[in-house]
Amino acid sequence: MCSIIGYSGQLTLAAPLLVESLKKMEYRGYDSVGIATLNKGNILVSKGVGKVAEVDQQMQLNKLPGEIGIGHTRWATHGGVTDTNAHPHYSCSANIAVVHNGIIENYQELKSELEKEGHIFKSQTDSEVIAHLLERDYEQSNSSIVDAMTNTCKKIRGSFAFVAVFNNGVIAGARFDEPLIIGISSDALFLSSDVLGFLKYTDKAIFLDNGDIVIIEDKKYTIFDASRKNVNRPVTQVAWELGSADKGKFAHYTIKEIHEQSSTMLKPLEPSNDFETFCKYINNASNVYITGSGTSYNCGLLGKLLLSKFARKRTEVYMSSEFQYFSDTVEPDSVVIAISQSGETADVLHSVKQAKENGAKILSIVNIPTSSLARMSDCFVTLNCGPEIGVAATKSFLNQLMILYKIVYIISGQNIRFDSAELVKLQKSVQSVLDLDFKIRNIIGSLDHNVKDIYILGRSIHYPIALEGSLKIKELAYVHAEGIAAGELKHGPLALIDKESVVIVLNPNDETYRDVLSSTNEIKSRGAFIIGISDLKNDLYDVFIELPKLERYLYPIVEIIPLQMMSYYLAVQKQLDPDYPRNLAKSVTVK
Ligand code: M6R
Repeated sequence: MCSIIGYSGQLTLAAPLLVESLKKMEYRGYDSVGIATLNKGNILVSKGVGKVAEVDQQMQLNKLPGEIGIGHTRWATHGGVTDTNAHPHYSCSANIAVVHNGIIENYQELKSELEKEGHIFKSQTDSEVIAHLLERDYEQSNSSIVDAMTNTCKKIRGSFAFVAVFNNGVIAGARFDEPLIIGISSDALFLSSDVLGFLKYTDKAIFLDNGDIVIIEDKKYTIFDASRKNVNRPVTQVAWELGSADKGKFAHYTIKEIHEQSSTMLKPLEPSNDFETFCKYINNASNVYITGSGTSYNCGLLGKLLLSKFARKRTEVYMSSEFQYFSDTVEPDSVVIAISQSGETADVLHSVKQAKENGAKILSIVNIPTSSLARMSDCFVTLNCGPEIGVAATKSFLNQLMILYKIVYIISGQNIRFDSAELVKLQKSVQSVLDLDFKIRNIIGSLDHNVKDIYILGRSIHYPIALEGSLKIKELAYVHAEGIAAGELKHGPLALIDKESVVIVLNPNDETYRDVLSSTNEIKSRGAFIIGISDLKNDLYDVFIELPKLERYLYPIVEIIPLQMMSYYLAVQKQLDPDYPRNLAKSVTVK
């Protein structure tokens, strides 16, 4: 949820490079920012609350002198969003400074132990204990940094990664269930939460294993495993394209990414993805589970319906945050399909780890092939949608859907149409819905700016899309929104509907059409404002968004797009930053 970067090299001074790297990783957390550099044996720290560009402008972060440094963007977990709680954190002597990502579960015990020994804490964070522990362990280990790092890590409980700079010029990092990657160029070494932190300078990376400690000294890196044994880890070449994200002609990444969908949607179906092996695992399994969080979970819900209905493969789907309480009961002859854009979501990793320990095979659907999830999977396919910078998942969701349809197509023995001719048509349909941008902007413009409640109705395969649309509205526009299975209205939610309500109905002309129209009638008579999304116009709708005609089971792929756009324009209308919604982060690496 935070980003960390460490740099030691001759490419440039540390500060401007750290600031640029943090801007690239800001999606991971963006409530405060800070850097520490080493200058003539002194560690200088500058930090504050705000986005990287704001804090940099106010505090001139990029002017700190020094060739070695560390940096951080924060997503607060322990301690409020304040300048003092921003990282880096000093040890008492200021000879060590630390940046941390993750949670230290036993920080209170450690803090009181250190305070009794005379250590003085300045912040309310759990992270600061690392600086003080390292300081103590460094003294007690006769100034051996690797011993200090090993001993400190042994005392910390939780999922974490951290990087420390020492005033003798050493940078050290540790990875325990949070990502930490070494970037290697001939002129510099990096330690980063994401390859985006160094991809401008090098495509050579080492993905540290859990429990690894790395020491960077005299232009060299050395890796130790949890038992303090010197180990080698393979150097991976990372795709340069991962780093090539800019807004182009668009005002925000989010709308750019929404518009990219017609060009990225077929990418996961290219031969680089081995669907045959993936599907073999599913065919050979007695039980199929799907898990994911947020948007990825919504995709999983649709996957369950499609697999059950069209491929006759009974499937259970769990939110990962819930699955972790059940995944220890998963049978060994099961497959768990884990869906995650980042491949780093803590809830997903945790539940999958337990299922794997039980003998289940792990199949994952990820955007980042080098992610922790991909690396712990028996088989994975990639979204190939390019970097998604907007915190709201948009193009990654569409590609997750495309992958699930492809899986259903294969497993069902082509019981649905998803061949190349159909795909060409589908791509054109997606483009035709994207072309409604101007119309959708106007619809949102005509809505009351203070709309308080938006309900999205859908039945069957449209219900997961209603849930996903409502998640987008909440996340981007901070408006209360609910996806409702339309048939459930009369069992409770109808009581909420009045003249102030805005109701969006997902109502393509399929077997759900008539029933959804009945629900729409019930809403209409309570005076709600109705936005109909369908291929068939009806007088009940106050506003109509027309979908192209498609095979009945393919509508989810197009009907999500107007909902994404509406959420975006609602946010813009309220002058919110759609790329960086408050309180959220792109990659949720804490439980
Ligand atoms: O990287 P993941 O797909 O595992 O992320 C899971 C959720 O945190 C994510 O989908 C979240 O719900 C999105 N920001 C919603 O737009």
